[in-house]
Amino acid sequence: MNMKTGESWIWWKHGVIYHIYPWSFQDSNGDGIGDIRGIISRLGYLKALGIDGIWISPMYKSPMVDFGYDVSNYREIDPVFGTMEDFLELIDKAHEQGIRVILDMILNHTSDQHPWFIESASSRDNPKRNWYIWKDGKKKERPPNNWKSPVGGNAWRYDATTGQHYLHSFFEEQPDLNWRDAELPGVFFDEMKFWLDLGVDGFRLDVINMIAKDKKFRDNPLVLGIPAFQKHLYTRNRKRSIAIAAMIRQLTDSYENRTTIGEIYAPPPGDAKTAARYLAKGKEGIHLAFDFSLIFSIWNAHSYFKCINTWYKNLPDGGWPCNVLSNHDLFRSIDRFPLRTNREEKAKVASTMLLTLKGTPFLYYGEEIGMHNTRIPKRQIRDPLGKRYWPVFTGRDKARTPMQWTKEPNAGFTTGIPWLPLNRDIRSRSVRQQEGDPASLLNHYRNLIKLRKTSEALQRGSWNPVTNGQQGILTYFRNTDDERILVILNFTGRYKSFSLHEHTYGKILFSTHRNTEEFMYFQNMQIGPYEATVCLVSE
Ligand code: GLC
Ligand code: CA
Repeated sequence: MNMKTGESWIWWKHGVIYHIYPWSFQDSNGDGIGDIRGIISRLGYLKALGIDGIWISPMYKSPMVDFGYDVSNYREIDPVFGTMEDFLELIDKAHEQGIRVILDMILNHTSDQHPWFIESASSRDNPKRNWYIWKDGKKKERPPNNWKSPVGGNAWRYDATTGQHYLHSFFEEQPDLNWRDAELPGVFFDEMKFWLDLGVDGFRLDVINMIAKDKKFRDNPLVLGIPAFQKHLYTRNRKRSIAIAAMIRQLTDSYENRTTIGEIYAPPPGDAKTAARYLAKGKEGIHLAFDFSLIFSIWNAHSYFKCINTWYKNLPDGGWPCNVLSNHDLFRSIDRFPLRTNREEKAKVASTMLLTLKGTPFLYYGEEIGMHNTRIPKRQIRDPLGKRYWPVFTGRDKARTPMQWTKEPNAGFTTGIPWLPLNRDIRSRSVRQQEGDPASLLNHYRNLIKLRKTSEALQRGSWNPVTNGQQGILTYFRNTDDERILVILNFTGRYKSFSLHEHTYGKILFSTHRNTEEFMYFQNMQIGPYEATVCLVSE
């Protein structure tokens, strides 16, 4: 049965989504920077991988202080990525291939070069003054309160022209919008409508849990009394942020088939409970939320079990989970698995989990070929965080290096000079090389995605754990009325025995260690080191 023609197939629930960092996916004009025409040229690759939607990090007009997360015009494509015509072509061509397009929407702040901010900063009585968060200092130049930025330092900047401070939760070039203003939300929603009207299928909502701040601007409590460490009580997860998330849901629901994914920014170990607060109970919340706990989990079956279990338990009625291992802000997952041994095997176990769990899987570009973090020499660092904190923290560039398509110089990414250096392993790690190798990670992802597409239970079945990972193996069922799938994941490098009592045998649908189509008997199974096996239970 073709799931895609099934009536209730919902792309953002049952499909697989791929996150593109546009700077690094494919360059088309030799300037060393990925662009829209480059993405268009790779749609065939995404289709073959089995992708149903792409989320593209920001491509709006931007001074690029934070690589596009500082927007100076929400209705324009930055020339570095191409033109509006290119973008419209991307939507058309993607849709022709059955691939939906999700944009990144940055609501918390704009660039300080955005005309709104320039106006707002021009005088205290400018009509847009209150679109941003301006406050008097304690003593003129002393900040109004103790709020700190997660990128370090004070979250306020004094502006001598009007003698007030403005709030910037991130860099000072990213002034925070005021979501408590009466006018701003409506104005901002018009920017979103602009893209929805053009046919964009949804938005990833950047730090949606940070957008509203305490009305009274109370000081955040300190952690251990250290001013640099604070509990973000008054700067995150205010009721108003959740209310705005609900308004965004209403807005997108006035169009057909659109989606929203909230980035619920929480430090390790992530916070499923908080992420769940933003999700739809009925239709009062957004469609999906990243809770980050799988990203922050250590390599241990029981830890993963706890993340998954907590996440599902906290979902509101009707809420739908999504799962993710990597993104553009953190180290690549393959290098987070500790000890740097058996990384490829571990990547196969982790991705089998990601693609067989309940919830929408999100892949980060290059994850499917096991791209590694790249060590970037100091002089080539581009991320402002890396520049600021080198060598203590070398920034996020390491997980943003160009996609490795072929083993040619620059990996088929560009004919020019790449904006960030490529990983040194391009001769041994590329799409081209892995396409030809049936045992490659790329084919592992392709096969799993294909399997997921043919299985109703994997797409929408319930999740019923059999073991909680304490013995190093994680096993669970995915069930519908007509289909029962068993997933067995060995997170260790040792053989593990495992028996299932209520069922006798099943057919192997997918395995890193066994032949598919063969039968597997569930008594006294010996599960191989880093084995990942998916079975259709027969009896
Ligand atoms: C989000 C983005 C990150 C950006 C920050 C500020 O966390 O993922 O890349 O720097 O917001 O916009
Ligand atoms: Ca380019």
